[in-house]
Amino acid sequence: MELLRVASLSLSYKTRKGPLKAVNNVSFSIKKGETLALVGESGSGKTSTATAILRIVPRNVHEFKGIIELEGVNLMKLSEDELRRNIRWKKISMVFQGAMEALNPLMKVGDQIAEPLIIHQGYHKEEAMERVKELLRMVGLPEYVAERYPHELSGGMKQRAVISMALALQPIIVILDEPTSALDVITQANLMNLLKELKWKLGISYIFITHDLPLASELADKVAVMYAGRIVEIGPAEQIYLDPKHPYTKKLIFSVPALRMERAPMFIPGEPPNLINPPPGCPFSPRCDEKIEICEKEVPTLKEIDPEHMVACWLY
Ligand SMILES: Nc1ncnc2c1ncn2[C@@H]1O[C@H](COP(=O)(O)OP(=O)(O)OP(=O)(O)O)[C@@H](O)[C@H]1O
Ligand SMILES: [Mg+2]
Repeated sequence: MELLRVASLSLSYKTRKGPLKAVNNVSFSIKKGETLALVGESGSGKTSTATAILRIVPRNVHEFKGIIELEGVNLMKLSEDELRRNIRWKKISMVFQGAMEALNPLMKVGDQIAEPLIIHQGYHKEEAMERVKELLRMVGLPEYVAERYPHELSGGMKQRAVISMALALQPIIVILDEPTSALDVITQANLMNLLKELKWKLGISYIFITHDLPLASELADKVAVMYAGRIVEIGPAEQIYLDPKHPYTKKLIFSVPALRMERAPMFIPGEPPNLINPPPGCPFSPRCDEKIEICEKEVPTLKEIDPEHMVACWLY
């Protein structure tokens, strides 16, 4: 059975200019222990998809629909109270984009990790501090970090601390929203190793969000490429990285600097489409140098081109 099945998920926001479709008919599934990467440029709907899975939607939501099935239970049908008590942080947790910069500067790191355990889980102070030490060890941080304030830690250490918070209640899925984007290359590589190690030791699944497709393919089993709120290509990580089909995926791979390639990153010309009044046809067509006539008229749907590998492009 699938661990998580997301089907026809759509989320739009009310704006002054009309509804903005941030997540448009997104479907994917994850098996136990599997990692899915959500990859795309800024504004493609990655964070919106992630927060929708936890049903953390902002007040200005216009429409929110679809199926989010965790171990066979549709989370869309649960009450807010059931979600809070049984699902969020316990089954699915999230390291929010920029979380390491959102640590409370006035509070010791250990107290910040312990706080939710004390308030929501009824831990006593000493019990919670024991768990904090365990969690710090798990993410490769020395115990003394508990006594430090956030500004006393490096970026990599802060990111490990926020990851330890997400692990506190032993979730089966951890959503990581751009966990490495504020870090230098070496720190990023160390953090990726930690994530791999935790995945292997704890058997957890990640939803790993990044704009860096080569990086994603290091950790992920499956990659979903998002453009303008839609998944435009999804498949086994290795296939997507080594044999990308969608013209956007190809450009995305070459848009990040690579250590082993002797070339400069290539920017993708043009900008992502307006999500309030999207142009007709394929949302990528205005920027696509492989487009054919139909691309500007009709939106392509996902087609299976290899087992488990789907692409939404009129060239296939
Ligand atoms: N509360 C909101 N109200 C209106 N529009 C929103 C809201 N939140 C996000 N958006 C818009 O929805 C679209 C998708 O945003 P989202 O944050 O999901 O993208 P993202 O892929 O995570 O981007 P980034 O890589 O920059 O984090 C964007 O156009 C964004 O401006
Ligand atoms: Mg985001």
